[in-house]
Amino acid sequence: MTKEYPHGDRSWWQRERFGMFIHWGVYSVPGRGEWMQTIEKIPTEEYAERYVENFEPDRFEPTKWAKLAKAAGMKYVVFTAKHHDGFCMWDSKYTDYKVKYDYMRDILDAFRAEGIRTGLYYSLLDWHHDQFTIDHNHPLRDHDWAELNKTRDQHKYCEYMRNQVTELLTGYGQIDVMWFDYTYAIPGGKYPEEWEAEELLAHVRKLAPDILIDDRLGLPGSGDFISPEQYVPRDGMRDPEGNLLPWEGCQTFSGLWGYARDESTWKTPHQLITMLVGHVARGGNLLLNVGPDPRGRFDKRAVKALESIAEWMDDHSDAIYNCTIAPSEYKEPENCMYTYNPEKNRLYLHIFSYPVKFIFLPGLHGKVKFARFLNDHSEVKMMPPPAAHGNMEPCVPADTMILELPPVAPDTTVPVIELILK
Ligand code: GLC
Repeated sequence: MTKEYPHGDRSWWQRERFGMFIHWGVYSVPGRGEWMQTIEKIPTEEYAERYVENFEPDRFEPTKWAKLAKAAGMKYVVFTAKHHDGFCMWDSKYTDYKVKYDYMRDILDAFRAEGIRTGLYYSLLDWHHDQFTIDHNHPLRDHDWAELNKTRDQHKYCEYMRNQVTELLTGYGQIDVMWFDYTYAIPGGKYPEEWEAEELLAHVRKLAPDILIDDRLGLPGSGDFISPEQYVPRDGMRDPEGNLLPWEGCQTFSGLWGYARDESTWKTPHQLITMLVGHVARGGNLLLNVGPDPRGRFDKRAVKALESIAEWMDDHSDAIYNCTIAPSEYKEPENCMYTYNPEKNRLYLHIFSYPVKFIFLPGLHGKVKFARFLNDHSEVKMMPPPAAHGNMEPCVPADTMILELPPVAPDTTVPVIELILK
């Protein structure tokens, strides 16, 4: 039996649906993603000398970040207070391995000033802390673990984590999400016990009863949401009985989370909108990541991507906020997905590939009061299924409603038709 855990307040989060992840730390300096220290097996002293020393964010512009997030329709932000390298982006009194200036405070303030809720990512892994035991992810994994671990006491590291969490949750105003990352429960990895996960969880809950906590502490049933990454679950995230669970997909613009100068796998605006819709249409949230550069800026590719989302969201946010998966009786037509607003009883038909003239909507004949494009509220003509005559079979099932589309699609990345149900 899975243990029952208390949960935070998911109501705002399930309405708002769309957030920004920010991976920013000294790993932006090498510009090869946030795992580079361990991929390249760099000991912490060397990493510090090369990257901490040369981290000089002279163009740190959190207000611009926040304005771009707001324009894109993002309603919450999750910022990496500490990533796996162990470097702290706030002025922690428990370590010297930290920024000289409290960037995190400015970031949280800037987003709150735009009316955006704030969350923090905190890495369970720590490749700098001298009590954190060597495991298969550690940059020193090629050395003699037993020897190195003789002087390491993971329990002390767990106390350090709890102390830092106290700092984060008591010194920086209201934090709405605590995003721990991550448990790799296989031999040579780390199990929840090695984070003292039960204690850490209880500690967070005590400090902030309503906060949302992800599922990566590795305690089944403890997460307020499931956190798939880098793919869009086909049918949402469900329990073994098939019930939909709260979930949030975290995704990148290109392959890596931290600034990745040489990455060229950037998603197109169409992919990004399709991805956003793909989350909400399956009852999930999207946490979309930006990896600012070492100067403290969003790079041009990220700005362009965010602006493309902003343009679409400006006309189409009604199909995202307060929306979720549609009732299963409405089968999605080819190349389309539905999102559904249960309070307003409206369906939103997202058209990923614009067809010629007709779209056939099973199960909707007689059920729709009015159909219109969401971008300009102009009417889309509805037609009943053609009646059978003579010995000809009707070409579509009798419960099908047909939309007659204008030949030219609205000038937007993904056209949406709003179906106002009876
Ligand atoms: C992974 C990675 C990490 C990234 C995270 C975001 O677990 O370890 O680098 O921050 O996913 O979801």
